[in-house]
Amino acid sequence: MKSVEDSIRDTEQREHRLKKNLSALDLTVFGVGVIIGTGIFVLTGEVAKTTAGPAVALSFVIAGVVCALAAVCYAEFASTVPVAGSAYTFSYATLGEVLAWIIGWDLVLELALGAATVSVGWSGYLNQLLEDVATPLPTSIAGEDATVNIPAMVIALVMTGVLVLGIKLSSRVTSVIVAVKVVIVLFIVVVGFFYTKADNYSPFVPPAEPTPEGEGGWKRPLIELLGITQGTFGWGGIIAGASIVFFAFIGFDIVATAAEETRNPKRDLPRGIIGSLLVCTLLYVAVSLVVVGMQPYDELSVTAPLADAFSSVGLTWASTLISVGALAGLTSVVMILLLGQSRILFAMSRDHLLPPSLGAVHPRYGTPYRITIATGVVVALLAGFLPISTLAELVNIGTLFAFVLVSIAVIVLRRTRPDLPRAFRVPLVPLLPIVSVLACLYLMANLPIETWVRFLIWMALGAVVYAVYGRRRSRLAGEEGVAAAAREVDDRAARGSGGG
Ligand code: ALA
Repeated sequence: MKSVEDSIRDTEQREHRLKKNLSALDLTVFGVGVIIGTGIFVLTGEVAKTTAGPAVALSFVIAGVVCALAAVCYAEFASTVPVAGSAYTFSYATLGEVLAWIIGWDLVLELALGAATVSVGWSGYLNQLLEDVATPLPTSIAGEDATVNIPAMVIALVMTGVLVLGIKLSSRVTSVIVAVKVVIVLFIVVVGFFYTKADNYSPFVPPAEPTPEGEGGWKRPLIELLGITQGTFGWGGIIAGASIVFFAFIGFDIVATAAEETRNPKRDLPRGIIGSLLVCTLLYVAVSLVVVGMQPYDELSVTAPLADAFSSVGLTWASTLISVGALAGLTSVVMILLLGQSRILFAMSRDHLLPPSLGAVHPRYGTPYRITIATGVVVALLAGFLPISTLAELVNIGTLFAFVLVSIAVIVLRRTRPDLPRAFRVPLVPLLPIVSVLACLYLMANLPIETWVRFLIWMALGAVVYAVYGRRRSRLAGEEGVAAAAREVDDRAARGSGGG
């Protein structure tokens, strides 16, 4: 098995060494850059309108707490195994190849599908902006019910091009984008506050309703199979809402991928991960409280709710400003998710779990261009043809599953390698990781049955791919094969010399 030390050693080879110059603050800025996106800018509207009402703010609190539990587990891992590649690399080093494959395959749901989801969100804000300044694109080619969502496909492909060319967003550009995003969010909170109406907050928790007829069956949360009736609105709706707005927090785990570039990873990674999560949770709760106060929840827009709330109170200029900020902010999220996806697939092909030729690096641009293009095309097709809520639910189940595995891995690594230095330790092991596992599973159980079916089909497909490809060709299988061949040669030589 590839040991923790092997993984760390890989990063210390001169030709693979990355510059270590990020601080805890840089990591927090990077984290906020990936985290704030479609979740707050788009899903807030949909969840308030259809699932939780004004209490969507509580859904954000619950999802934030679940993420905080997982975040401390990621922080321990990142401080123990400070190697790029996030959950895939952690698990390769600690749990072995099969689990690493499962996580790698599962992370496609988080990263590639996440990029598609945010592209759809980007398209919604583009259309809101066009509506404010001129005429919107026809709904058949942009928006929630589009036959083909053209702007969503375009943004995914353009970002793919940027990544293939290896154009780095300098840290200054990233900081500007993040600053714009945070300023817009604060603007929404501060200005929006003056337009909130007490009436819109009552009832804060709308009375529970049974799941609408015709939406039963596959659309029901899995937990209803256990006889727990959830329905929409009421407390059940708040929890179901949490399992959807969970999407808004995705990304803090990607901070861990910057491990190798961090000056003092053992101290700063936990600070960066937990710090960015905290900042975002506070902003989310504030924004959602303001937005549901500005407009009755059943009138919120499901494509560009924050901008639309400002139009609804007559502030069209503010709506335009928010749309511009959202477009800039969502662009960086699409890019970083695509980047994360191509790097994880790259690591998997380097370990020969995927064809090594896929991981070829472009001679001129020095980027893994084949994987990046393949990822970009698939993401564009998904973004073009699937509605945002379907995508987001599948992203959430995939990410929650990765959190479950990472939380379990913390307990496993404490048992198997108690000797490793851990700069950051999860308190109360195994209790806290177990609570984290249960909390993630609970949110997963609140996702629709159809999401579970899609998730299980995806994971089963992964098992097949591993059985027919990765298991035989992986570098580990290769190394064992080489070792066996070498032993055989030695045996023969021994026999030969004995006999001769
Ligand atoms: N958390 C990111 C977003 O909401 C993925 O867009």
